[in-house]
Amino acid sequence: MVQVTVRPQAGKGTINKNIYGHFSEHLGRCIYEGIWVGHDSPIPNTEGMRNDVLEALRELKVPVLRWPGGCFADEYHWQDGIGPAEQRPRMINTHWGGVVENNHFGTHEFFRLCELIGAEPYVNGNLGSGTVHEMQQWVEYMTFDGESPMANLRRANGKEEPWKLSYFGVGNENWGCGGNMRPEYYADEYRRYATYVRNYGDNKITKIACGPNSHDYEWTEVLMRNAGRYMDALTLHYYTLPTGDWKSKGSALDFGVTEWFTTLRRTLEMEELIVKHSAIMDKYDPEKRVGLYVDEWGTWYDVEPGTNPGFLYQQNTIRDALVAGINLNLFNNHCDRVTMANIAQLVNVLQAMILTEGDQIVLTPTYHVFEMFKVHQDAQHVALDFTSPDYTYGAEKIPQLSLSASTDGTGALHISICNLHHESDAPVVIDLADDSRSTVSGTILAHDSLQGHNSFEQPDAVLPQPFAGAALDSGKLSLTVPAASVLVVKLQ
Ligand code: AHR
Repeated sequence: MVQVTVRPQAGKGTINKNIYGHFSEHLGRCIYEGIWVGHDSPIPNTEGMRNDVLEALRELKVPVLRWPGGCFADEYHWQDGIGPAEQRPRMINTHWGGVVENNHFGTHEFFRLCELIGAEPYVNGNLGSGTVHEMQQWVEYMTFDGESPMANLRRANGKEEPWKLSYFGVGNENWGCGGNMRPEYYADEYRRYATYVRNYGDNKITKIACGPNSHDYEWTEVLMRNAGRYMDALTLHYYTLPTGDWKSKGSALDFGVTEWFTTLRRTLEMEELIVKHSAIMDKYDPEKRVGLYVDEWGTWYDVEPGTNPGFLYQQNTIRDALVAGINLNLFNNHCDRVTMANIAQLVNVLQAMILTEGDQIVLTPTYHVFEMFKVHQDAQHVALDFTSPDYTYGAEKIPQLSLSASTDGTGALHISICNLHHESDAPVVIDLADDSRSTVSGTILAHDSLQGHNSFEQPDAVLPQPFAGAALDSGKLSLTVPAASVLVVKLQ
């Protein structure tokens, strides 16, 4: 029996809703087909964006959406994506699959998408192959209200008022696809480019610097030392590969218990990354002014057989649901430093929320976890004391349980629990340290197969179900968390 104690006074503050953020890149069928089908499509759409996807995203309460990349961002020249669609240049998306990019989805379309789903835009600028002038002009185009060449160009393109833009990334993965830079060089470049990312009128931009690739602590050290005072946030990218080998990552659907275990073990490494990068940030920024934005995370498998290797299309099982739940619990529990996270990616790419095929749509197990966990958005973090039993497999062991908790504006307490074990249930007793709560309800995501997933033939194979297995008595909650499941309980 696992004993958990709720420690309401030891919480880490507000769980920033942006931890539940998303990422949409011009990659494979994420933007084109997944979101944008064009005004003349037979697929029902709003101004070119498919209605079924918009509706699903509204339901998810997407707080913030990152665009246009990713690696694509450092090859994107924003002026290609404005003005009459038929006059926009056609080009090759050299990074992702060598397909034609017709630029029909550009700045105006992205801001409209954000309006339609109620998300805040996060625009990622081009430092790798773009100029300072180009970046400065983009910010002016988007946010300047006065008389200027770029503001006038925006008006000529049909947008009188500037948009509100709170988040701007100054390059992406500049240690790799964004220019293969050394941290010292990027830190100097960041300072130069960021100088011209201006706040016009009352628009206040959170300037986001490119942070480390997973375990690269040297990058964080140099960036914080040399450019920390010029940034508001530093990114972290970490993907979960079942094998840990980029050449042969593992299959999304065809896996056994060994890959189940290694996938979850590698997911848990996110905690070490957050702790160690945060410790470096604490040295230079003890006030925690600079946010750690985990703006790319999730599973990365070998592509689905028969699909374009440059499109990164993969299926999504109950294993992905566990990966999502574990990461979101970690972000909640480190919400004093992690103030944004963006899973990769929104539709049809990597650990997607949504898969599409023609006019069909499938919501993945990961979608359902985000839907279940949205109760934590902007809620107050609540600390939990517990020692997890071990999940032992072969010679290795990891914690069997992952938990986080928060109280929302109505006073309701939500506890999210993942049972990582592939076959053992976990009996748990939670001491609420408060006997005034009288009702408990819950939602669970589980499947009798570890490979359970939603397909176009069976879109409802993995769906959240009401969970009636929790009993509340004198401030103590007793429940058994089924193996390989994600559970959220609500106490009032
Ligand atoms: O999400 C896919 C790619 O992964 C992004 O374009 C890049 O930033 C990262 O390497």
